Amino acid sequence: MKILVIGSGGREHALIWKLAASPRRPVLYCAPGNAGTADLATNVPISAGDLDELLAFALREQIDLTVVGPDDTLAAGCVDRFEAAGLRIFGPCQQAARLESSKIFAKDFMLRHGIPTARAGSFDHPADAIRFLDTVAFPVVIKADGLALGKGVVICASRDEAVGAIRSMMEAKIFGAAGSRILIEEYLEGVECSIHALIDGEHALLFPVARDHKRVGENDIGPNTGGMGTVSPPPEATPGLIDRVRHEVIDPFLRGIAADAIPFRGMLFPGLMLTADGLRVLEFNCRFGDPETQPIMCRLRSDLPALCEAALDGRLDQVRMDWDPRAALGVVMAAGGYPDGVRKGDPIEGLERAARLPGKVFHAGTAIGAAGKVLTSGGRVLCAVGLGDTVGAAQREAYALVAAIRWRDVQFRSDIGHRAIARERA
Ligand code: AMP
Ligand code: GLY
Repeated sequence: MKILVIGSGGREHALIWKLAASPRRPVLYCAPGNAGTADLATNVPISAGDLDELLAFALREQIDLTVVGPDDTLAAGCVDRFEAAGLRIFGPCQQAARLESSKIFAKDFMLRHGIPTARAGSFDHPADAIRFLDTVAFPVVIKADGLALGKGVVICASRDEAVGAIRSMMEAKIFGAAGSRILIEEYLEGVECSIHALIDGEHALLFPVARDHKRVGENDIGPNTGGMGTVSPPPEATPGLIDRVRHEVIDPFLRGIAADAIPFRGMLFPGLMLTADGLRVLEFNCRFGDPETQPIMCRLRSDLPALCEAALDGRLDQVRMDWDPRAALGVVMAAGGYPDGVRKGDPIEGLERAARLPGKVFHAGTAIGAAGKVLTSGGRVLCAVGLGDTVGAAQREAYALVAAIRWRDVQFRSDIGHRAIARERA
């Protein structure tokens, strides 16, 4: 079996690692991949946005299954192109991926199908959006409709800040076309977490709950990032919560895609807020999370190729999954300056030392330099995952890996899991 994974982040390294563990011993390719995927797969130098070359490669190599990592590859219609050419590919088609690539489309879908979410208004013109501010209480949340590399959400404490955010998205177009339309949304207070659900168009299989740490700084301060670390499961993830997610989010989602004839096959990854008034969906992602996938794959015992195939064949009702009950915790190690501009090309020391320790280090922004040395090549560089009977034990294992590795100006949060560990101690 030949499998191609599209993407180059920590998520893709974790997927490759898990696919490589399949008893079917698949031959693996990663496009374009990183220094970590190169250990287990053949890296193919095609960017995740080059659909023509990806398709030509998959046809030439007779790839049996393609797994798509990035949201923009899905939004560009990669799955539609591959399916039209008769290839098997895991991920939603372009129409289904709009549930992530248009926040207004997703909001309308949620309201239409009774999925709990924040109240919001959608706007095509800045003047209308600014006038609407006279009717809201602050803070409000302003969201660019389209994909904006995780930066298209601004929490505004005052009217002035909100006007500034509206003007920068809709007039200065800091996110390009993604900000031509916006949502203005009620601010929700609560505890955030997320869930992954494998969807085959008709049935869903829920993965464990996870919690990302989106802010760059300790104690959750500073700018938002793609994610600085993950805990799975957080202590809030009781069986009761999972039942509520199933009944309030996933079941109406399945009824909604059936009613709207949206052929969704792939991973649904909703961001959730647990508020005093119940749970609310913050957003739908239509792919695996990064860095959520890294600890989650460390806990998955079932065969990943078989799960992807069951989703494509509409057989998820016949599948059971097996999970390691231990907690997993991933710490992202980023280049200095992240989430703004970063320097690339710094040699990473200590990877061999870390490989002898328990736990697993996944690569994200890494590349192999001229002398075979692993170099930094992006904002988020590595994700070190530890496992343990408690979140505290998983945290110790993860930070032992972090301590073994260094490069110039490395940055990471020292408090990943802080909320979960405070609850464990209480
Ligand atoms: P999103 O890309 O929609 O997940 O938003 C990014 C982050 O903004 C989320 O992880 C939340 O921390 C925050 N956020 C989004 N929507 C809201 C909301 N309605 N109320 C409070 N915080 C929000
Ligand atoms: N870690 C959040 C995301 O993948 O969107």
